Amino acid sequence: MTDTRQTEAPTKTILRALNGERQAVPPVWMMRQAGRYLPEYRATRAQAGDFLSLCYTPELAAEVTLQPIRRYGFDAAILFADILLIGQAMGTKLWFAEGEGPRMETVTDREAVAALKPAEAIHETLSPIYETVRILSRELPRETALIGFAGAPWTVATYMVAGRGTPDQGPAHAFKQRDREGFAQLIDRLTAATIEYLSEQVNAGAEVIKIFDSWAGSLKGADFDDFALKPTATIIAALKARHPGLPIIAFPREAGDRYVGFARATGADCVALDNSVSAEWAAAHVQIDGCVQGNLAPHHLVEGGAALVRETKRIVQAFSGGAHIFNLGHGITPQADPENVHRMLEAIRG
Ligand code: CP3
Repeated sequence: MTDTRQTEAPTKTILRALNGERQAVPPVWMMRQAGRYLPEYRATRAQAGDFLSLCYTPELAAEVTLQPIRRYGFDAAILFADILLIGQAMGTKLWFAEGEGPRMETVTDREAVAALKPAEAIHETLSPIYETVRILSRELPRETALIGFAGAPWTVATYMVAGRGTPDQGPAHAFKQRDREGFAQLIDRLTAATIEYLSEQVNAGAEVIKIFDSWAGSLKGADFDDFALKPTATIIAALKARHPGLPIIAFPREAGDRYVGFARATGADCVALDNSVSAEWAAAHVQIDGCVQGNLAPHHLVEGGAALVRETKRIVQAFSGGAHIFNLGHGITPQADPENVHRMLEAIRG
């Protein structure tokens, strides 16, 4: 297969935005667009039995990825998987307690870090994910871009250290404080594995990569530099060396003022914005460096009404001076009304 990324101007709208192009109507997709707010997702998930079986059954994972594309015609599809699968592939047990979220075996010291499987060993567990990508690259409409993804090392580490989601990422901060070098070894191991994982997604057909650092906002100062910025920059440099021209979106959620210059410092083509920053501020301070993605607050898709339309149009307007991909500031929630997504799209596309 020849790689045309560098020689031809991209035609898919998302790829054009990632190339820095301003478009009169911004391309749009939603975080968690395949999810529990959709009755067809709930039906396929019931068929799979549980969430992890859904992730590891390529035909069903591809099916739920395609569902929101069929229903709404989004400009991009995001691979259906989870950021915690990589921890499992490194040998840390993972399960989802029904109605409670993820649980993992804990990694709390250097010995546990040393016992993790090396980066090259992850494909054994993750090969079904690559198969999902291959199915999707055959079945998606030609105008729809396929986004592959991984969690950033810090965010994945917060779950591996605590064994679950935590409100303040306390256990990961404690490990970092107790043994900074040991914690850095965990981040390095995750960084190496993430490069292999994402590179295989690209080999299988992913056209864009997104790196989710959902808990970046709890890192401050030198911690932000060492554990959010640097690992992301390392992953991006390695991926771009292997796959020249590959567009990459970074999501350092709740980074606040650290959003400023993040794209330049990491080499990301686009920074995804959460909804704690105003679109007007982000246009002035972040979009000046290139494409941005975001940032409608997910609750508008629960409530709908005039506020949904007003906020959607305000965001489109605020980012209309440069490259923009419309999205939410975080994932759509299970309580969202699927009809409100149509209203949002109408407000964007007219
Ligand atoms: O966006 C998409 O549609 C693609 C698939 C995707 C999922 N999770 C599916 C999922 C992606 C990109 C993720 C990323 C993810 N997973 C993140 C980063 C983004 C974010 O939300 O901040 C994180 C932190 C996780 C870890 C995770 N997975 C948690 C904490 C939970 C439980 C909370 C919840 O929303 O239920 C999950 C489960 C999960 N991952 C679901 C889905 C659709 C719900 C599972 C179900 O069907 O019961």
